[in-house]
This record gives sequence, C-alpha cells and structure tokens, in this order.
Amino acid sequence: MMMLMESLNGGRGGYGGGRPSYMRNLTVAVIVIMCWRLFLASKALGPFRMASMVDSDATTNSYGNIQNSNAAALLGTAGLGGSVSGATANRFRGDPVRIYVETRRFGKKGSSQSDGSLPVNAPPSLKEEPLYQKCHKWAVVTTIYNPSDSVKLVGNDLNDWCMVVVADTKTPDDYMQEAGWSTGEGGEDTTRKVQFLSVSAQNEISKMIPFVKLMPFQSFARKNIGYLYAIWMGATAIFDFDDDNLVRGENNKTTKGGGILGTELLADFTNETKSLVMVRHVSIAMDFNDRAFNPLHMMGATIADAWPRGMPLSLINSKSARGQRGPLVLKEVQQSNVAIIQSVCDHDPDVDAIFRLNHQQPFSFESSKAKAMTLEVPSQLYSPYNAQATLHFHIAFWGLYLPMTVNGRVSDIWRSYIVQRLLRELDTQAHVLYSPPIVESPSRNAHDNLGDLAAEQHLYLRTEALLEVLDNWQPITDKGGTDSLQARIEDLWIHLYERQFVEVEDVQAVQDWVAALEQSGYVFPAVKDHSLVIDPSTGGVKDRQECARRRLANWEEPRPTFMNGSNFGALTFEHSSNISVARLLTEYEVDNPFPHSVDLVVRAAATKGPWELATMIESVQLYWPKCAGRVLVVLDIGDEEFAHENIPSWIDVMYSKFDFGMPGRLGTQLFNMYSDQQGRSEYVAVIDTDTTLITPVTPDLVFNMEKIDEAGNAPPYILAETTYQKGMWSKGDQWMFKGDSNDWTFMVTLPTLWPRAMFPQYRAGVEAIHNNEFETTDLWQHFRATRKAGWMSMSQFCLLGNWMVKHWTDAPFDLRNETDIPPMRYGCHLPYYRGLSFGPGGKKDPDSFQRTGRNLMLDGLCELFCHETPHQAGSPPAVGLPKWKSCAEKCPNPTKKYKDVYFKYDRKVYGTPEQRLQVEANHFEPFKRALDSVFRRAKQISTVKL
Ligand SMILES: *[C@@H]1O[C@H](CO)[C@@H](O)[C@H](O)[C@H]1NC(C)=O
Ligand SMILES: *[C@@H]1O[C@H](CO)[C@@H](O)[C@H](O)[C@H]1NC(C)=O
Ligand SMILES: *[C@@H]1O[C@H](CO)[C@@H](O)[C@H](O)[C@H]1NC(C)=O
Ligand SMILES: *[C@@H]1O[C@H](CO)[C@@H](O)[C@H](O)[C@H]1NC(C)=O
Ligand SMILES: *[C@@H]1O[C@H](CO)[C@@H](O)[C@H](O)[C@H]1NC(C)=O
Repeated sequence: MMMLMESLNGGRGGYGGGRPSYMRNLTVAVIVIMCWRLFLASKALGPFRMASMVDSDATTNSYGNIQNSNAAALLGTAGLGGSVSGATANRFRGDPVRIYVETRRFGKKGSSQSDGSLPVNAPPSLKEEPLYQKCHKWAVVTTIYNPSDSVKLVGNDLNDWCMVVVADTKTPDDYMQEAGWSTGEGGEDTTRKVQFLSVSAQNEISKMIPFVKLMPFQSFARKNIGYLYAIWMGATAIFDFDDDNLVRGENNKTTKGGGILGTELLADFTNETKSLVMVRHVSIAMDFNDRAFNPLHMMGATIADAWPRGMPLSLINSKSARGQRGPLVLKEVQQSNVAIIQSVCDHDPDVDAIFRLNHQQPFSFESSKAKAMTLEVPSQLYSPYNAQATLHFHIAFWGLYLPMTVNGRVSDIWRSYIVQRLLRELDTQAHVLYSPPIVESPSRNAHDNLGDLAAEQHLYLRTEALLEVLDNWQPITDKGGTDSLQARIEDLWIHLYERQFVEVEDVQAVQDWVAALEQSGYVFPAVKDHSLVIDPSTGGVKDRQECARRRLANWEEPRPTFMNGSNFGALTFEHSSNISVARLLTEYEVDNPFPHSVDLVVRAAATKGPWELATMIESVQLYWPKCAGRVLVVLDIGDEEFAHENIPSWIDVMYSKFDFGMPGRLGTQLFNMYSDQQGRSEYVAVIDTDTTLITPVTPDLVFNMEKIDEAGNAPPYILAETTYQKGMWSKGDQWMFKGDSNDWTFMVTLPTLWPRAMFPQYRAGVEAIHNNEFETTDLWQHFRATRKAGWMSMSQFCLLGNWMVKHWTDAPFDLRNETDIPPMRYGCHLPYYRGLSFGPGGKKDPDSFQRTGRNLMLDGLCELFCHETPHQAGSPPAVGLPKWKSCAEKCPNPTKKYKDVYFKYDRKVYGTPEQRLQVEANHFEPFKRALDSVFRRAKQISTVKL
C-alpha cells in the first residue's frame, strides 16, 4: 500500500525519487561512460560543442530521469567527483556551451501561425466532450498506481471541480472501476466529473496534437497532457496535485480538527465573484540581497529553519531569506492577477533529502483561522513551488509545462523558477502566493533518502546558477510587432538549453506546447516593453522626470475625500478652482525632479479619526510631488472600504494590525521604525496622520540644493530643534540608548526624512545596546509601562534622529537647527497648532480640524498666487503669473493671518524676519518663475479663478 501511494511527478517516490536499484546502477554505468566521453571531447573540441554533436551524444532515455543526456557535462562541470581535473571541482555556472541551431518558431522570423508547422487536422471539437462546460475548475493528476485516497477524495468530495487523470503505460486499465466510478465511452464519469485519459486515448489525441506525441511514456512529463486537456476544456483554474496529498476536507477523518480546511481555501481562491485578495506582504529591506525567498518560516512551519525542496542550498541557513522580523503587513491584489498559489503541506511536507537526513519529521504549518495567511512571494525574488498541490490561474497557464529532460524531483521546481522569471515579462502584475495547508500528507512513505539525494543533485548543484542565469536573461524583443510572450518563452528555453540546464527535447516540446495552447484558443497575456519601464524609486532623476510626464498625460485630479456621504477633508474649498495646483506642481517636477528618491509613508487608522487621514490625503494629493518615489498609506485591517473610496490609485495602500501587543500610538511608533521595509527609494519621509502639507513640496524644501554636487547628490535637510518641549522626550531616548542621547527634538516639522539604509543600522544598533531583539517585548514593554505614566516619554522621530546624529556616516546630511537658521516648513501637525481655531476646549473635533486644515492649505494657495513675496533687490517679480480672480475676496490680506505658518511651532516663531523672508523667497521665486513659463505654455489656463 505504501508503494502504491507513491507519485509520479516530482513527488516522494514515483519516477523521481524511488527509482529501483537497477536504475541507479544503470545511472552509475552511464556516468562512468559519459565521464570518459567528456574527457575525450574536451581534448578534441574544447568546451564549446555544437548542438548537433550534443544531440547525438544525448542519451535521452525514455524514463526521462537524471540520466540524461548530459550526465557527462554535469559531472564534468558540477564536480560530483567525476571531474578529470583533480581535487578541486568547478562549480556549475551555466555558461553558454552550445548553440541552438534550429529555426525559432515564435521569434523574429514570424509567429507560429505562419510557419506551417501546425497540424492540418484541427483536433476534434472538445465542445462535444461530455465534460465540456461542466466546470471551469480542473484538477490534474497522473499516476501509475491504483486510485489513491487523494484522487478519490478529489473525485468524490470536490463537487465543483472536474478532474483529469492521465494514465501511463503501467496504470491499471480498470482504474475507474477501482475508484468506484463509471466509465463512459471516452473514459469519463460525468457524475463524478472525472476524465480518465487512457494510453490509447492519449495516442488518439497525439495524432492531432504533435505536442502529445513528444511526451515520453513512463515519465512524470505525461502530466503535461493533462494540463493541456484542462486548458482545452476551458479551465479558469487548474489544481496540479499529487496522488498522495490529501485535500484537508471535513469528510476526511485524518484531518485534524480546527483550522482552515483545504476545501475552504480552494473555494476561496477560485471564487469568481471576488475581485480582490488580501495577501501578506514580505518586506524587502536594503540588506535583503538574496535571490530566493524561503516562505516556510512565515507560513508558520513548526520547524523554524525548514526550507522547501528546491531552495538554493546556499540560502537554507540564511535568516534574511526567511523574510524580516517586524510588523505584519498585508496588501490587496487583484484576483485576476494571481498566477500561482502553492499550498504548504501538513505532516510530511515537500522537503529535500538533505533536510530529511538531518531533521525530525513530521512538521506542519499555521492553519488557525486567526493566524494562517496567504503570503506573496516578492516579485523580484524566487520561491520554489512544486507539482504536488499548486493552483494555476489563467494568466499563467502557459507556465504549466513540466520539463522532461531533467529529473522528476528537479522538473517541477525548475519549472517554477522559469515561470517566475517569465512572469516578470508580463505587462501586468502577476503574483505567486503561498497558501496555508490545502493538503496534508498523512502517509509516511519510507523515503529512500540517498536515492532522493542522487535524484536531486541538479537541484543542489545547479539551482544557484539557474537563478543567476534567469536574472541575467534579457529577452529578445522585436519591435516589428511579432514580439510576444510566446517568443519570450521560446527564447528563454533556448537560452537554458544553450547553458545545459535542459536538453533540446524540452525546447522542441515547449515549442509544440505553445503551439498547442494557441491552437486551443488560449490567449497569451501581453508582454511588457522593457524600454518603457520606469521606476521613480530606483531609476534616478530621468525616471522621475519621465514619470511626471506620464502623469500629466494621464492626469488624475485630486479629489475630496468622503465618508458617509459628507466631505471629511479640506479639499472642497467651497470653491471650484480652474487651476489645478497639483497639475502645476507636476509640470514643475518635469524640470525639477527630486535629486534622490523619497517614499512618503504614513501609518494610520482610518476609522478612528477619518477627518485626520482625509485631510492629510488631500494635502498629499495637492502638494506632494507625484514622482518623488512611492506614497504608501498603511491602514488597519478593516479600513479597506475607506481606502477603496478615498485613496486615489497612485497612492499605494497596505494594511497592518498592531502586533507586539501594542495598539494605537505605540504600535504606530513601532511600525515607523520599520518604515524602510515597504519601498525601495533612497529616503523615507515619515508623516503622522494628524498632519497636513501646506505648500507645494519642491526639491529645495527637502534637500539642500545649494550643496548639490556634480554627480547630482544633494544632502537632505534633517530638521531639529533644541528648545521646544525640552526634556519631554528625553526619558525615552535615555532609556533606549542607555544614556547616550542628544536630546534634540526631531518632529517639529513633518514629514521627517530618513535615509532608508539607516533603519536596519538603527535597529541593529539598539539590539547591540540592549543585547536583545529589537521588537521583543523586553524593549517595548518598557514603553507600554511608561505609557501608563504618560506616553510622552517616547518619540520614534527623536530616537531615530538622535541616533542618526551620532552614528549615521554613510551619506552626508544637513542637520538644521531650526531655532538657529529656520528652514521653510512644508508640513505640520494640525491639532497642535493652537495659534489657529481649534474648536471648543481645544478638542480634536472634526469641524475645527477641517477648518484648520483648509485654512492652512488655502494659505499655501494664497501664498502661491496672491502674495507678492519680497524680492531680493534686482530680482524681478514673476510677471506673467495670473492672479486668482478673487484673491481679494478669498485671500484677504492673505499672509497676515497665517504668515508665520512656515516658521512657527506652537507659539514660537523661529528666525529673524529677514531670514524668514529670504527663505520664503528662495522657495517661492523659482517656483513662481517656473509656473510663469508653464502658464505661458498652457495658454488655455489664462484666467485663474478660485
Ligand atoms: C481520508 O483519508 C484517509 C487516510 O488516507 C482515508 O482512509 C479515507 O478514506 C479518506 N476519507 C475520504 C472520505 O476520502
Ligand atoms: C465569493 O466571494 C463573495 C464576495 O467576496 C462572497 O460574498 C461569497 O460568499 C463568496 N462565495 C464563496 C462560495 O465563498
Ligand atoms: C458613518 O456611519 C456609520 C453608520 O451610521 C457610523 O457608525 C459611523 O460612525 C459613521 N462614520 C463617521 C466617520 O461619521
Ligand atoms: C472654470 O470652472 C467653471 C466651474 O467649474 C467651469 O464652468 C468653467 O468651464 C471653467 N473654465 C475653464 C476655462 O475651464
Ligand atoms: C540651536 O540654535 C539655538 C539658537 O541659536 C541655540 O541656542 C542652540 O544651542 C542650538 N542648538 C544646538 C544643539 O546647537
């Protein structure tokens, strides 16, 4: 019975692992012969061998196993002891060693449609198949054994799923009867919605579809026929599973009680009325430079250092490859952009032989409803997924092809890496997710660990090289209109053939696979034009300029925020303005991009005080540059509705819940300590919710542009102050740094700006001082305790700033003592601004907050359009700038009332009047002059009304 549970496709046992001993002996024999051949070949030809030679050398054996073909090359270059060169072996690097000489079928020379290679006979209309249109969800399995519990369970219990079972030569003929299912003429049970594809049925299909003919018998690769069949039958979701993985369902007695059931997860992931999925987001910090991500830790594996089969060996001990510590962050993704979902497997998960040899089994994953979460693999990293319990969706069906010239325990993993690379070619986002356990593997197969080890050798020795080759691959792109995903798929497989990862049979099969998908009517997703891809965060000033141009071309006006039908923000202005300040700022950005990228990050709770967030979001729409980097709002789980209604599409939204047992303000503070983790820009601007921007944020306000160097680097202003609230925050600083603090106050002006690379250093620095992990309760319980005594003892901004002043040396910054030389403030706290009307009793009531916010934002507009800033002697005022028609009405004596908003904190006004005028002029004059030319360009904006 145990033997019967073994599977075909890269599973435990089957063709992959449990090869009979005569096979291993055969392999050894082949290896010896091949070594000798390589030795001769290398003498005769050097390392470069032409394709034709390799083909004739290839001993592709019909078992599709390790074998093949280039056992010689494997041993010669991977150094499994077969190297002729002596004790030190060379690592396999995936260097090009041969050329693909056949004609490309999807490349520049034209698409498959025109090369005449498609069969003349179209396949029979599958619409006449009894199961056509019975369901859109297809489970695919291949087997050589009698029906397993797993297969029976899918056929009997998953009502809205169809299943195709692909037989191989050894599969029992009475498979369907064994399972208790009836058989129609075509081998189907229409009640169970199961299709059994017998060998003879497959032979029939192969007459019409060349791809099918290429699939070797007695190989896991026959599963490819099942995928093709499901696609042909109009599948929208394909469950690629293994016949010893049981779906965790209510009816199954082995399923331990509690937790999310696999059946629930399957229903949820394939729910077609759902458009958004909430997934856990993995933060990519600066120090996360590994190519691959190991998801098992974040999936709650009960063995902390577990890794999945296929994880590059060099990373199995890497803590950073298991994701960061820090707060839980989630994001919503479009269901239609989900490409693949890999289920983890309880009890006997899919791990490699090295893991099995030195770890206790079994182990399981988090499945409790409260904690189990679907996790997104970061799109710039790779995580292995297998063919044992994986869901594939329409945008990624082309990626189902399992290569046949690598071992069965290698095939599905390499498929996953190749597909993840190709997903980056799509024009749309495409997500690879890890899901809580849909399946469990209750049977404990006796593993032949050494057999598995041998079968997995390419995984161990070539995966690093594969990932590097994949990352470095640049697809052919043909502007002639024939560039397509099909062409890029073909190109990548040829690239891998030329580097000896796969053999030419896989290239041919992929070509026929792609042709068969085209024939089935499958519509390949559109590909990205790489020349058009820009990234304001990592791409430099040119990308930020181009970003601004594109924003103008697809202009999106700021919009007021609403809740419960009434405006909660400040942007109504009660006025309809014909001038778009936001647009003007974006025009300005084209010529005046930020010298360094800056992400703006806010952690907020929308439902607790929506007026605060609403006002802030409006001011960001109005005054924050659109292409400085990324704008990211992190809300509470539960704030989704607010976000959908009020946050414009160019602002990214994520969700979090306050973990570490610290709700509210302390949770926010802790979160801000991880502000580096959500984006990629050089700087992170951190802002509080009860804050508003008060003037267009131009580079001169954020960076000291007078100190810009030839390379375009300008130091950021780090604004601090020494008298305001003196002593108030020092307790926290003293405690955190064990007395080593400056007692400067850093949050008098918001947003605060920090180098992204400083955050990990800061966290590591605090850990060193306390000899404790940063987020352990030890550190933070202190603040919980002090919170009871009065939360004022801690400010994340003061902690970061005081640490920065002492320890940050990687890049220059311009520390400004505001008391001394006032910089112009572009954002400030609203409720603390007691100089303005603050409602009865100074309470945070929405009305007074809105009024305050509006006044400040309006003041920014008045300053911009109505107020003649004093000029330096001899510098002409901006002449062409039109005035608001109703300046006198809307901005009566505009700068008198709020005049010192840019220089004021609480009641104290910083700097001398002369200094302040100078600083104001430095900001407004160039901006106004630039706007002047914008106005001249855009003649249509001739009158400006408020
Ligand atoms: C559940 O799994 C067990 C163990 O593999 C099996 O014996 C049983 O038949 C399964 N139950 C159902 C309803 O398929
Ligand atoms: C599918 O999703 C919709 C919208 O979220 C939900 O109302 C419905 O209950 C879900 N259906 C199932 C079967 O889960
Ligand atoms: C919106 O309306 C709901 C239901 O009447 C109420 O519970 C909620 O507090 C309102 N939200 C705000 C921000 O007023
Ligand atoms: C200015 O705004 C008003 C009111 O929104 C509108 O009726 C008018 O057409 C606008 N004028 C121009 C030139 O866009
Ligand atoms: C900041 O400037 C004020 C005013 O000149 C001065 O009193 C104070 O000592 C300065 N602070 C520091 C830390 O230099």
